[in-house]
Amino acid sequence: MPATPSAPTRELPELLVLLEPDALREGLLHDARVGLTAASRTLPPKYFYDDAGSELFEDITRLPEYYQTRAERALLAAHADDIAAASGAEALVELGSGSSEKTGLLLGALAAAGTLADYVAVDVSPGALHGALELLARERPAVRVTGVVADFERHLRQLPAPGRRLVAFLGGTLGNLDPAQRARFLTDLAGGLTSGESVLLGVDLVKDPARLVAAYDDAAGVTAAFNRNVLRVLDRQLGADFDPDDFDHVAVWDAEAEWIEMRLRARRDLRVRVPDLDLDLAFAEGEEMRTEISAKFRREGICAELVAAGLEPAGWWTDGDFALVLALRP
Ligand code: AVJ
Repeated sequence: MPATPSAPTRELPELLVLLEPDALREGLLHDARVGLTAASRTLPPKYFYDDAGSELFEDITRLPEYYQTRAERALLAAHADDIAAASGAEALVELGSGSSEKTGLLLGALAAAGTLADYVAVDVSPGALHGALELLARERPAVRVTGVVADFERHLRQLPAPGRRLVAFLGGTLGNLDPAQRARFLTDLAGGLTSGESVLLGVDLVKDPARLVAAYDDAAGVTAAFNRNVLRVLDRQLGADFDPDDFDHVAVWDAEAEWIEMRLRARRDLRVRVPDLDLDLAFAEGEEMRTEISAKFRREGICAELVAAGLEPAGWWTDGDFALVLALRP
């Protein structure tokens, strides 16, 4: 592909909206109703990430106990060239790109390999996309930058395909899906790719439970604040009257399922009104609501899941704590 000389001023990155604000709200209304009225209450982790929640997550990534982000960044820094070579990608598509902070490492390696022309960032948050993409467009004038507002569980088959793609799903976010959601996600992802395209996953690995629990229950209480923040999201979005201080943060390791569960535990008997759902909820003292699972992986397990989805494992890089897995669509 010939390198086009970059114009001195490039237009701002394009935004493609697959997830309209109305659909986002419909999704929240539905998920909150289902989750809050279930016998064992749950909330999907995707609602953590309003502006305050996204900032708290950035704080989490700098905690001494939370090794994942540093581990993944070091793996990308050390192996981005191998990944670029193995993928031969002309387009990097990043799912859940958030601040796109680690993207530069992959873009640099793909650009050095000489094939890269496009970067497509996919996120539910238009705000996160705007900031990150303007910066990237300035740093990499030779790369065409596109933002896609989409839900990676719903719009995988509609993602732009400007050339042979490497789809990166980093940060261990795959672990937030339960096994059935994961199988559906990987199958949809594989089904949307053409032969020779590839997927790069960042996955956290099974390890000493004490380290895992510490990573989700840090001494400074940042993860606790992040967990409780989901109640503020419900208060603002649905007019609810949750008081986050009525709930304790809980992080437990489920040894059988091999995942960390975050929960919010009611400190006392309480009632919560959710006007936009016309719901009155009663919480008993000690009652727990699950707000996140974060599954931890083993090489055999994740490779078997990739194969089951129709992908071929083609690379594995790890420091023992965290791993990058590359898989090709045959
Ligand atoms: C960004 C989804 C991978 O599961 O570890 C951090 C989110 N939750 N601390 C994770 C999170 C609690 C994180 N992911």
